[in-house]
Amino acid sequence: PRVMVLFGGRSGEHAISCATAGGVLRAIDRERYDVVAVGITRAGQWVLADDDPDHWAIRDGRLPQVEDTSTHVLLPQGTADREVQVLRDGRLESPLEAVDVVFPLLHGPFGEDGTVQGLLELADVRYVGSGVLASAVGMDKHMMKLVLAGSGLRIGPFRVLPAGRTVDAQTVDTVVAELGLPLFVKPARAGSSLGISRVEDPADLPAAVAEAREHDPKVIIEAAIVGREIECGVLGGRAGSPPRASLPGEIVVTDARHAFYDFEAKYLDEAGVTLACPAELAPDVVARVQDVAVRAFEAVGCEGLARVDVFVREDGEVVVNEINTMPGFTPYSMYPRMWEVSGLGYDELVDELVSLALE
Ligand code: DAL
Ligand code: MG
Repeated sequence: PRVMVLFGGRSGEHAISCATAGGVLRAIDRERYDVVAVGITRAGQWVLADDDPDHWAIRDGRLPQVEDTSTHVLLPQGTADREVQVLRDGRLESPLEAVDVVFPLLHGPFGEDGTVQGLLELADVRYVGSGVLASAVGMDKHMMKLVLAGSGLRIGPFRVLPAGRTVDAQTVDTVVAELGLPLFVKPARAGSSLGISRVEDPADLPAAVAEAREHDPKVIIEAAIVGREIECGVLGGRAGSPPRASLPGEIVVTDARHAFYDFEAKYLDEAGVTLACPAELAPDVVARVQDVAVRAFEAVGCEGLARVDVFVREDGEVVVNEINTMPGFTPYSMYPRMWEVSGLGYDELVDELVSLALE
């Protein structure tokens, strides 16, 4: 089968998506799959991209990015010059028509949020991962929380600041009285911790909201949850393949310069954070985390894959922080590592995801 590995994109997580694609391009079985690498530039152009995994690694703090190679491939008709077409059965076809399955390795808005999934549905092309609604719900921390809570899962206290709602002194007082300190201020629709601040002094709240609004006019303010930061991978969720959970992993912030698991700690400062994988947890806690992860996956209606991030409180309670429908997938990311320690190697994981989408 021909697989389009699709990555980059218009969101702030462009570079992470490229790194994720690098991992998949390295792992995917080229004897079994005919791979077409398509990058989306930051401006939104779909172009044929280098399929050499080395091109897409994060190296020495340098973030990879898709350049416009002028080989625009999105629209099947018209613009396609010979270079961007793909030969199949002796006929030239444009890539979207010619692929059997798309692996949309996109993080953030315009990719992980249901928009690309909607395009692929319209084009009648199979794809890896969640569909339109689950992707959209998973991208929007506000809607995600409503769905999780509505399904009986435990979430933390939060408040939404809709677009246009200003943060006056009274709002600050109300939010602090209700949620306490510190607070986490987040864009509703973003990822990789972009635009997130930890606020300890109420006077800093307006600036934190302004920073989050650089990514999304809708902002979420969350109460801090005291507990261990645990993540769990879920895989499956299509006909004949019920969702199953990996062993959980743990985020351990080892460098106090990172007030939380921020973008730097995630991708640039290897010393700042340790991923303990598998997490050292009592067997009953593992079972509870896995149960919550599968329930969250099903509540949102995910397919294929998701990573569920939770807090395990001292009293053993599992509180869901969020679900990611296209989790970071670089070889050193938590999602593939959790599967690795659960007995499923990176290349087998890629193969299972593509197979699930082709079924
Ligand atoms: N949004 C990033 C890629 C993650 O969830 O891993
Ligand atoms: Mg996220």
